[in-house]
Amino acid sequence: MMDVEKIRKDFPFLKRGIIYFDNAASSQKPIQVIDAIKEFYENHYANIHRGIHTLSEEASEMYEESKKVVAKFINANSWREIVYTRNTTESLNIISQMVKLKKGDKVVTTIMEHHSNFLPWLRLKHQKGIKLEIVNLDENQELDMNDFEKKAKDAKVISVGHMSNVLGYISNIKEIRKIADENDSLLVVDGAQSVPHIPVDVKKLGIDFLAFSSHKMLGPSGIGVLYAKEEHLREAEPFLLGGGMISDVFIDSFEEAEIPWKFEAGTPFIEGAIGLRAAVEYLTSIGMDEVEKREKELIRIMIDGLEELGIEYYGPKDLKKRGGLVSFNIKDLNAHDVAEFLNEKKIAVRSGLHCAHPLHRALGINGSVRASLYIYNTKGEVQKFLEALKELIKLVG
Ligand SMILES: Cc1ncc(COP(=O)(O)O)c(C=O)c1O
Repeated sequence: MMDVEKIRKDFPFLKRGIIYFDNAASSQKPIQVIDAIKEFYENHYANIHRGIHTLSEEASEMYEESKKVVAKFINANSWREIVYTRNTTESLNIISQMVKLKKGDKVVTTIMEHHSNFLPWLRLKHQKGIKLEIVNLDENQELDMNDFEKKAKDAKVISVGHMSNVLGYISNIKEIRKIADENDSLLVVDGAQSVPHIPVDVKKLGIDFLAFSSHKMLGPSGIGVLYAKEEHLREAEPFLLGGGMISDVFIDSFEEAEIPWKFEAGTPFIEGAIGLRAAVEYLTSIGMDEVEKREKELIRIMIDGLEELGIEYYGPKDLKKRGGLVSFNIKDLNAHDVAEFLNEKKIAVRSGLHCAHPLHRALGINGSVRASLYIYNTKGEVQKFLEALKELIKLVG
């Protein structure tokens, strides 16, 4: 069982007395992550893969070790399948170029996507003339799998969010993999909201490409992960050229370095990798099954409370299909006003369109309030949040 009180001692930000329910935007950091970065700066800092001196070798080794830890976390075959980028957004943009689409090729995505898994494909539609199909929601505000099946016919690429950052809905990746298999499609998964909160096994799920961000999973911001099966990385062309990505350069040509280095031109965010490793180790020490279980427990209380207050929320009613976040609206109130009221009570939530404009349009709303949970949140905090909403409803009468 997860010991939340013990976990809370690791998070210095809690001294601010803020109830932090904006974890889907970015998570707070435990002292272990902060200390790992500080220790690296104080004792091992140098550029990687360049010098043969002790510090450079230590830093290079630590950087590679970080990839090994991340690879294990998502059950990749090898650390060579891990490319570090800046964030999920950058990973998805790169993936959209790696899959090498041409005019008439079909890409399937969904209406619930974050813009980061939508705009790179939309650009290819306008630039290259690919066909872009968008899967709709069903009456339960889940992905409509019949629509999926139909639209995925002969798709080259299926690119889907694993967990919606608005609906909290968890896509059935196994079922989507089956559809991909029937059509010989590549499966791209936006794991920005899933990897931090539920176990994600790229082999079990048959994922070809996975993107996620360190900053949403206790790690530093500015470093993200692009996982791809080794064969895909070997085939793909590097997107940035320069130092660090070559094995040799001649006056009129160059040879690429091994994977993953051919995708990491220039000095990377070395200390970010050190922090990400510490974050992954922290999550692993708790266990992702436990993280998921705990968040499900809390979200149940939160959603039951919203229902009791008669507040409209979005996404499936079936809690088995949801992760630890919920977006909602209070009748006649602007989402930002609700967030402002909660902020006065020292409760941090997100309000607005959450980088998912097409989804909000499809839901027929012009914004929502989102509360999103993580390992340091408590039942008491959820209760305080519900009490604050109750007070607000009374106030506006
Ligand atoms: C589902 C989803 N995809 C992509 C992103 C983009 O992540 P980042 O800003 O770290 O690139 C987010 C961020 O909120 C997200 O929730």
